[in-house]
Amino acid sequence: MSTSTSYEAKFRVWRGDADSGELRDFTIEVNEGEVVLDIIHRLQATQAPDLAVRWNCKAGKCGSCSAEINGRPRLMCMTRMSLFAPEDTITVTPLRTFPVIRDLVTDVEFNYRKAREIPAFVPPAGLAPGEYRMRQEDVGRSQEFRKCIECFLCQDVCHVVRDHEENKQAFAGPRFLMRMAELDMHPLDEASREGLDRQRAVQEEHGLGFCNITKCCTEVCPESIKITDNALIPMKERAVDRKYDPLVWLGSKIRRRRSD
Ligand code: SF4
Ligand code: SF4
Ligand code: FES
Repeated sequence: MSTSTSYEAKFRVWRGDADSGELRDFTIEVNEGEVVLDIIHRLQATQAPDLAVRWNCKAGKCGSCSAEINGRPRLMCMTRMSLFAPEDTITVTPLRTFPVIRDLVTDVEFNYRKAREIPAFVPPAGLAPGEYRMRQEDVGRSQEFRKCIECFLCQDVCHVVRDHEENKQAFAGPRFLMRMAELDMHPLDEASREGLDRQRAVQEEHGLGFCNITKCCTEVCPESIKITDNALIPMKERAVDRKYDPLVWLGSKIRRRRSD
């Protein structure tokens, strides 16, 4: 039922599939306190029953309702209608960086593929999980990165892949570069024991060098993770330090010669 603060909003919503699509106009009721996802649900209930949209929690925690609202990557469930003036037209489109399946639903498989390419944490030898000890500073850093809800808004906005499909092969994207930074900075990770070199891999296999620290990823993160300042820039420094550290360089040469 309408409240006294209801109004009719103008919405433009992208409808279509992988082959073709277009923006469709709707006029739809908005009530006080609602978010964009409420309006999309009302559209489904009243005017477009087959409108495809992905969502689960409606609480900003599952990361599935990502879309572009007036061109900006956002969670639909966390975007209040009060952000907009009643006379505004609100345009809702699917994430541009990933292939459309239907309407507002995109195929985000790229991200799962990149996640699978990152070797997991290698626990310290000889210690049971309850015996791990870390400084609070290291715990805090991991906790910040682990707030990630995998909404992939940062992946969507990053210009390295947004306008360059061909870069997807060689670039993991901010979410996964951050994951690699987390593991590399983890004081208990013993990746080298398994023959893994995370600093080499992040540069040579996952494209850290493509990132020119524009911070667009940080700006859209709904968890306010400082992706660029706290993960990508430190990871660049670590990888570069290593490259220009003469002892590290000599060590890697000797190791390479031994394995030849
Ligand atoms: S800071 Fe790097 S990873 Fe983030 S959006 Fe810019 S280029 Fe992409
Ligand atoms: S880092 Fe932020 S924007 Fe990127 S996937 Fe995680 S929560 Fe979403
Ligand atoms: S529905 Fe879960 S984050 Fe929006």
